[in-house]
Amino acid sequence: MKSRALLPWLGLLLLLGSGGARAHAVLLHSIPAEGSVVGESPAWLALHFSERVSPLVLTLIGPDGEPQQLEGVAPAQQLRIALPATLAPGNWLLSWRVVSADGHPIAGALAFAVGVQTEAAVMPTTDGSHYLAIWSARVAVYLGMMLGVGGACASLWLGTGPSRPVVAALWLGAGALPLSLGLQGVDALGLSLSGLLASPGWQAAMATSYGHSVGLALPALAGAGGTLWLRRHSTAIAWLLSATVVLLFGLAFTVSGHAASAEPRWLSRPALGLHVLMAMLWLGALPPLLVALARPGADARRVLGLFSRWAPGMLAALVLSGGVLVVIQLGHWRALAWPGYSRILLLKLALVALVLVLAAWNRWRLTARVQRGEAAARLALRRLIRLELVLLVVVLGLVAAWRFTPPPRALLPTGQVQVVVADAGLRAVLTLSPGRAGPVRADILLRDDQGRMAEARELGLLLSHDQAGIAPFRRRALPQAPGHWLLEELLLPVPGDWSVTVEVLVGDFDRIRLTGTLRLAP
Ligand code: HEM
Repeated sequence: MKSRALLPWLGLLLLLGSGGARAHAVLLHSIPAEGSVVGESPAWLALHFSERVSPLVLTLIGPDGEPQQLEGVAPAQQLRIALPATLAPGNWLLSWRVVSADGHPIAGALAFAVGVQTEAAVMPTTDGSHYLAIWSARVAVYLGMMLGVGGACASLWLGTGPSRPVVAALWLGAGALPLSLGLQGVDALGLSLSGLLASPGWQAAMATSYGHSVGLALPALAGAGGTLWLRRHSTAIAWLLSATVVLLFGLAFTVSGHAASAEPRWLSRPALGLHVLMAMLWLGALPPLLVALARPGADARRVLGLFSRWAPGMLAALVLSGGVLVVIQLGHWRALAWPGYSRILLLKLALVALVLVLAAWNRWRLTARVQRGEAAARLALRRLIRLELVLLVVVLGLVAAWRFTPPPRALLPTGQVQVVVADAGLRAVLTLSPGRAGPVRADILLRDDQGRMAEARELGLLLSHDQAGIAPFRRRALPQAPGHWLLEELLLPVPGDWSVTVEVLVGDFDRIRLTGTLRLAP
């Protein structure tokens, strides 16, 4: 089937399409600011995030290139890192890796200089190859949980025999869950895939909220396997066990992930729990339903009757809880235009809409005919259920890709956004306040390569937004103080990535252009 062959490519495309953003909490600002030159060695550094974080690895690299590990404390959204000794004059780089409340690690680097600038400190490069492994393991976990756990419960409740796909999905989940935990550790510590073979990554993963999720998901998986075995001996105990399994399943999804850490949690967590349970029941019921429909007869009609009685309510709850999560995660309707998260959401919604149309067709066009014993309708129904299954697996692939992109609400509270652009011995720090689309104030601090405020005859900004089709336009800034230029009323109407060039006229005809990109929140 064509759509099946598209699966891996779609996932890969999304991974690449989500760009550099692989974060969940977002760094809002730092002390000292990125690219700044401080007169004296600071006693501490501070990173201020949009959400609470816990430090994983903090490495400080000095002008001599020697790395040293630091400790940090993060009682709230600010991570404070005490510096052990006076920093020598020159360029310094703090490479940081933290884990946000949703259990996802994020990393970055803060460059600053003490006294004067010297040779730039070299940022350690991270190997991004494990992102594909993380995505694949996550899809396998979803399949194991939805088709395995969901399938085991649904086959019990619908009174169908345990089918081979359900057992296979349970084994897939049992393999993928520990692997995804190991990969979480590799990502948390910024290790290569060989880090899976050592204990630090696993320990780090267990300390994140994803470790708690896996701790709940594994017994849910084992319990689901137990229901398949127990039902042969005691249906009542199997039903009791399946209720526990459902509880564990719901909890596993609500202790980590973006939505689980979104405020207000009294709403986001129950909505997420309901959402994943409904998704599990829907997806999980499809393979047993297919098995039941393989043969004509009273049993197929009974199972179909049961499923079609429950399905509309389940789907309504799935869509409603999904809608609540969308409102919470976007924070503002304009965030739908945001790249990454919103792009995945729109694709997911389009696919879900298609599946809902198929489901409605099955329910209102085919079910009654199958109940009347029409063989052609039964065959058509089986074919469409298979298609539904394939599309829902693609939906899970999209859901797994959310792991790499922050939800827009994480970017909303930004006070400012900043970009540092440098070239030809000049460095400009451009700060936009507020850091969201609309009217903003732009402050530009211009320095030379010695860190001194640099003089200029004129300074302007050239701005464009490729994605929104906004062609480059120019605005002139006004001098405020030596090296400080201001553009008080700048209108940047859309969120997303803006290309910015700081144009500096240093002599009569000598123009230097410093180019960079900055991201505005919706
Ligand atoms: C109108 C329908 C739907 C809407 C509006 C919707 C929306 C959402 C949203 C906003 C989230 C939170 C993502 C995050 O930021 O962490 C979410 C989570 C999720 N959705 Fe949906 N969804 C819909 C249908 C579905 C369907 C049909 C499936 C199953 C195939 C599904 C599976 C999931 C799963 C597994 C998660 C949890 C991800 C995690 O925390 O690991 N959703 N959904």
